Amino acid sequence: MNGAQITRSVAEAAVYLRAGNVVAIPTETVYGLAGDAQNELAIQKIFEIKGRPANHPLIVHFATTEEAFGWGVEIKESARMLAKAFWPGPLSLVLRKQSWVSDLLTAGQPTVAVRVPSHPVAHQLLVEFQGALAAPSANRFTKVSPTSTRHVIHDLGDRLELILEGGPCEVGIESTIIDCSQPEPVLLRPGYVTIEEMESVLQKPLLFQNAAGTLSPGQHAIHYAPEADLFLVSENEIADVATKFSALGKQVLVISSNPISSTAAAAHWEIPEDPKEFARRIYGMLREADAAQFDVVLTTMPVNHGVGMALADRLRRAAKSLPE
Ligand code: TXA
Ligand code: MG
Repeated sequence: MNGAQITRSVAEAAVYLRAGNVVAIPTETVYGLAGDAQNELAIQKIFEIKGRPANHPLIVHFATTEEAFGWGVEIKESARMLAKAFWPGPLSLVLRKQSWVSDLLTAGQPTVAVRVPSHPVAHQLLVEFQGALAAPSANRFTKVSPTSTRHVIHDLGDRLELILEGGPCEVGIESTIIDCSQPEPVLLRPGYVTIEEMESVLQKPLLFQNAAGTLSPGQHAIHYAPEADLFLVSENEIADVATKFSALGKQVLVISSNPISSTAAAAHWEIPEDPKEFARRIYGMLREADAAQFDVVLTTMPVNHGVGMALADRLRRAAKSLPE
């Protein structure tokens, strides 16, 4: 393969997908590695290209709520309320699946995750393709998700033929996932759509995966890690920790809200004040840190509510424990 071409043509991408090929596509959250969700060969290609184990199910993307719910059975009122409030948008719903939905897609589970993306290019593509597109994030397994075509090329450029250009992703982190296949809705992955927003629509508290005793398969302990060692440190310890790593000869990057002494670390980047802005930029920042070859990245734990909850979740998965 000669490397991936970037196209702006939705029609060209649809032709590729109809032929059973895999295309990287923009969504409002992150870029996805898309294939025809009704074509098992295309689904297999997605797993191969991504290097993803077969026991991690994929999210299926649709142009409309009606089509998305057509892939499920026994759709609960909570699913309808969430879809009405947040679709098209960065929310995935896990439904009990129709019997004909491929086990490859769902990793053999009786449920399927569905989403109606709001990105105009993703929407146009789904309309043009006239079907459902399975798409995990378009990164190598366990690496951070791509939020631009440049990131996709870096990770998968030699394994893909076509990337559909859609500009930088507005949301920047993966969709919120709610399991609506159980008696009560359960949060499986925090995201841009916050607990507070969903609870106000549902008019009741959401269960969390641990409280309900369930686990989302494919929730890997390390899932979104950069190449550098990332540590979460409190704001008042960060300069001391940076100084210690620097003394060991490490190139240290501090990402924090307050400036730190210029001798403590090789570089300091400021955390954007608006958590939504931080979400949009977090993966790009981690990739830039790798490109600049920092050995160590120190940052603080975001406040655990609103979009901060999704940021805290992603950073916790990327972080290592500090050495004694
Ligand atoms: O924002 C997003 O969701 C992006 C864009 C491309 O849509 N996609 C994405 O896909 O993040 P991926 O494959 O990287 O993450 C999908 C997550 C995994 O954690 C997987 O375990 C969960 O969705 N998932 C998929 N199907 C599921 C199911 N039937 N039950 C429970 N969890 C499921
Ligand atoms: Mg992913």
